[in-house]
Amino acid sequence: MTATPNRQLVICKDAATLAETAARRFSQLARDTVAEKGKFSVALSGGSTPKAMFSLLAAAPLNAEVPWASTFVFWSDERTVPPDHPDSNYRMAYESLISKVPLPESNVFRMRGEDDPAKAAEEYQREFTGFFGPGSPRFDLILLGMGDDGHTASLFPGTEALNIKDRQVVSNYVKKLNTYRLTMTRPAINAAAAVSFLVSGAGKAPTLKRVLQGELDPNQLPSQSIRPVNGTLTWIADREAVADLSLPEGTLNGGSDVIEISI
Ligand code: 6PG
Repeated sequence: MTATPNRQLVICKDAATLAETAARRFSQLARDTVAEKGKFSVALSGGSTPKAMFSLLAAAPLNAEVPWASTFVFWSDERTVPPDHPDSNYRMAYESLISKVPLPESNVFRMRGEDDPAKAAEEYQREFTGFFGPGSPRFDLILLGMGDDGHTASLFPGTEALNIKDRQVVSNYVKKLNTYRLTMTRPAINAAAAVSFLVSGAGKAPTLKRVLQGELDPNQLPSQSIRPVNGTLTWIADREAVADLSLPEGTLNGGSDVIEISI
């Protein structure tokens, strides 16, 4: 069995192929992990990109493949809004996936965006400790998106959460949005066994170029600081999003729907 390279770029023909690829990899990893250790822990990201992937996981054939009873769902970040608010990451996941699959309610660990942010972060830290034990949570998979400002989860450029090393989940004031967010910290994300970014669309191309091939500046490009200490990092992107990257000669020739390269 060939070793999985620890940093991979998976280039998908278009957004639909990206969603399908991400959903299939999720299903395969869940099945393999449950077969190996009896449970699968995943932190979902928010934003819009994962929605199509979640819908595919909620439909045949994938909905029957994922071992939902042994799958435990958390979030990488959440907005400070109630769970029924249009901006809620939980609501997006609930409507597109969780409400449609046999995932036991007790397997779903929602960040309480409706509560005082500091208290909600402390409560989620207790959830982490209860599920993973003390220290950093080692998720089997963390899904992330990348904003066009280089943020990921709710680790925004120049924000306080970027400097926190001794906690796994915090409230983070985001000046540009004039709001608090709940977010996993960099050490917590980097403790994962696998992290997958989903990046789609031409609008992300300049930032993806800076993040993957530009100068290292993790405080201005927080996505750059996601490097699992002992795990794999996979960037699943469509051709529009990789348009500015310098790729090995001929990478995109041959017309495959999905091209995997080590980076
Ligand atoms: C959030 C997300 C955030 C998101 C990126 C990309 O709460 O908004 O966690 O980090 O993943 O902003 O969002 P899109 O997928 O909508 O481009």
